[in-house]
Amino acid sequence: MSAPVDPTTTKAWAALTEQHQNLKPDLRAWFDADPDRAKNLTFTAGDLYVDLSKNLVDGDVLSALVDLAGEVGLAERTEAMFSGEHINVTEDRAVLHTALRDPENVSVEVDGTDVVPQVHEVLQKVYAFADSVRSGSWTGVTGKRIETVVNIGIGGSDLGPVMVYEALQPYVQDGLECRFVSNIDPTDVAEKTRGLDPETTLFIVASKTFTTLETLTNARLARSWLLEGLKSSGAVDDTDAASKEAVAKHFVAVSTALDKVAAFGIDPDNAFGFWDWVGGRYSVDSAIGTSVVVAIGPENFANFLAGFHLIDEHFRTTEFSRNVPALMGLLNVWYNNFFGAQTHAVLPYAQYLHRFPAYLQQLTMESNGKSVRYDGSPVTTDTGEVFWGEPGTNGQHAFYQLIHQGTRVIPADFIAVATPANPLTDGDKDVHELFLANFFAQTAALAFGKTADQVRAEGTAEEIVPARVFAGNKPTTSIMAPGLTPSVVGQLIALYEHITFTQGVVWGIDSFDQWGVELGKQLAQEVTPAVAGDEAALAKQDPSTQSLITYYREHRF
Ligand code: F6P
Repeated sequence: MSAPVDPTTTKAWAALTEQHQNLKPDLRAWFDADPDRAKNLTFTAGDLYVDLSKNLVDGDVLSALVDLAGEVGLAERTEAMFSGEHINVTEDRAVLHTALRDPENVSVEVDGTDVVPQVHEVLQKVYAFADSVRSGSWTGVTGKRIETVVNIGIGGSDLGPVMVYEALQPYVQDGLECRFVSNIDPTDVAEKTRGLDPETTLFIVASKTFTTLETLTNARLARSWLLEGLKSSGAVDDTDAASKEAVAKHFVAVSTALDKVAAFGIDPDNAFGFWDWVGGRYSVDSAIGTSVVVAIGPENFANFLAGFHLIDEHFRTTEFSRNVPALMGLLNVWYNNFFGAQTHAVLPYAQYLHRFPAYLQQLTMESNGKSVRYDGSPVTTDTGEVFWGEPGTNGQHAFYQLIHQGTRVIPADFIAVATPANPLTDGDKDVHELFLANFFAQTAALAFGKTADQVRAEGTAEEIVPARVFAGNKPTTSIMAPGLTPSVVGQLIALYEHITFTQGVVWGIDSFDQWGVELGKQLAQEVTPAVAGDEAALAKQDPSTQSLITYYREHRF
């Protein structure tokens, strides 16, 4: 693979630098001067209606951003990804989450093997399993149907499934509930199993590597909880055979390491595989989504995958000047590298998307939080902004103050759907309309602000006027869709996957490795004996760590 292009040496970067120096953001004036601004800067991708007009760009900036995409080879890198090249260079792997949502008639070769038939084979196995749980033909060891599915996983083996399960609540089958255990804090497994009946509970142990400390520890805790519960109620006897049968009926696994699944004691027949070319944070559309398939059913999950595919096709085939993920990724580069923005807010005006910002934190920050490029050389500009957010209108009453009147540039994505999942009225008022009015009002307030004259005209005392002025020109992108369907949720995820990819390509980094999480894991293993009382291990720690561990040992009650 060719060396990364240094974006800061491109002609487009020079043009953007100059444009930034000369740019006087004035969204009021820009909208006044160009009545077609909203129309010209609104794009569609699949079912997504994306209004970029409230961003701090004019036509020249946008075309320079598009030129930048050309100069850094975004089209070539995109094709390399979709066609199975090993673009994850530090792990020497293909990056093919897009193949997970390819229809059966497509062929994608990885190292000489067409992976699409394998994808569909696993999907069919997951679908058959999900159908058996949903219909009640899969029962627990005492013959009772499953009522609760507990997914045990962390990072990409948790954040995607929990986010989608929450987003698609209206599609969840009555009588079935999913819970998600991720944290190694024992409180998590204790709380998530509280009140559950072991006879009607099924655990899905989801781990790409099947080596993750948190997940394996929680899986062992869950296995003990299950067996102790079944034995104490007399549902199963104390023999090894009975325990084995109980584990077989109450535990399934999802992993790329099926040998390790077997070693854990889970029947390989009850395991669903995937492949090393699926990154953890890109895996909710693989068998890692099994809990979601059980909850919403195969047909809805197939629509979810079709949603991803719509955006994949859009990203792969649409010219950059109309390509929504590419444009949004390029705008993020614009704010990061020219305005010095350090964070990016994602504000879903859809309560069911309340875990979407948390999901995006792993997707974006584990992907693009890098200081070296894919050839090992240092990056030449800032990378990876901090993604964060909360559902509207909660955020309005918490942190919007800083976005409106603070000193920092915080680009924000507002996401809403036209059709409410729960249409309710308050008297004669449609509450969804009240909710959406806030979305529309906030993006307008951020863009256009409120001038001192407007504040004065309201009769405000002169000394208070400055505090009540809104500068405006706070950049936002508005994303709308007809409803929060499985397809739309897939589309939203794919949109952000490709935004993240676009930024990574501009910066020349490997967006698909995550070496930055390794050191902490390694040190935790070294520290564990010291925490447990090993004086020699304690003596090897630095003074601060020693004193923290000593505090712990003196104060635990
Ligand atoms: O935190 C690092 C990481 O490797 C993530 O990338 C991944 O999603 C998570 O751990 C869980 O890994 P696994 O699915 O292998 O248990």
